[in-house]
Amino acid sequence: MRFIHERRLTTTTPRPILHKGLGSTPSARRVIMNELSSSAIESPAFVELRDVSLSYAADADSILALDNLSLTVGKGQFIAVVGPSGCGKSTLMKVVTGLVLPSRGIVKVGGEAVTGPVKNVGMAFQNATLLPWRTIRDNVLLPFEIIRPHRHKLRAERAYYVGLVQRLLNTVGLAGFSEKYSWQLSGGMQQRANLCRAIVHQPSLLMLDEPFASLDAFTREELWFVMQELWMDRKFTAILVTHDLREAVLLADRVIVFSPRPGRIIYETDVVLPRPRTLQTTYSPLFTDLVHDLREKIRPGRPS
Ligand SMILES: Nc1ncnc2c1ncn2[C@@H]1O[C@H](COP(=O)(O)OP(=O)(O)OP(=O)(O)O)[C@@H](O)[C@H]1O
Ligand SMILES: [Mg+2]
Repeated sequence: MRFIHERRLTTTTPRPILHKGLGSTPSARRVIMNELSSSAIESPAFVELRDVSLSYAADADSILALDNLSLTVGKGQFIAVVGPSGCGKSTLMKVVTGLVLPSRGIVKVGGEAVTGPVKNVGMAFQNATLLPWRTIRDNVLLPFEIIRPHRHKLRAERAYYVGLVQRLLNTVGLAGFSEKYSWQLSGGMQQRANLCRAIVHQPSLLMLDEPFASLDAFTREELWFVMQELWMDRKFTAILVTHDLREAVLLADRVIVFSPRPGRIIYETDVVLPRPRTLQTTYSPLFTDLVHDLREKIRPGRPS
């Protein structure tokens, strides 16, 4: 229960009530959503940021990307981070995974202070970055070649690992493509393979930085449901950065809104839509209310 209090304390602003609910009128929906929201079960913290600030370069030209940011993500929770371009969302991803260390404040993952690159993290970015000289199967096998204890077992137990990869590729609809190369696949198929590579080693934390941004609208929607299925099956903790508010509401348990740079949390809301969410969910009044409310909270940043 300690974490419930911590989460309330660590948000930088009081949590405003914005839900407009499931009922037929906005006020009826608000009542239902508030009840659902207050009965939501909180999980123990897995990612914790306390008063984190980050400046790139420590001279006169330094850029303050994150400012006094506090955030707690529960174990197994799926959160989405939205905000104007250049506000520090990718910087947040780097700070959580230990690729850059904060100038001030504390970052913890799984209860351990982050002092360098965090192990057991899966990552997927806007570009699939599959290695063109490797087959899809060998691309998805890659984490096992790098991460302990798998890298020591891979040679002796290759058939087992290949079986794992093949089953995952089947799940995302790439059953017949494991022997192909990335350049023989469409952009959507490459991104499916990329997601497989990000989660094949069962990471406890998945970091997604606009992984669907370069896809057409239909493929993007398809991949939302692939992502949802993978997450419901494996229940890793996930942080998704996106500019697509529908994507944020469809996938996340909680959506965080960043201010223009330096990134601070100016708003957050729980998304208590039942799962699995479907295309039909995106037409529901609650879904569109949430998307509209989030849109109103996002202020454009000026490039600097
Ligand atoms: N390695 C770096 N060195 C110096 N400045 C950087 C570096 N990376 C990012 N920045 C600056 O930090 C700020 C935040 O960048 P970041 O990439 O986190 O934004 P973002 O919210 O992910 O933007 P977008 O939505 O466009 O991807 C920007 O002003 C950017 O120029
Ligand atoms: Mg970014």
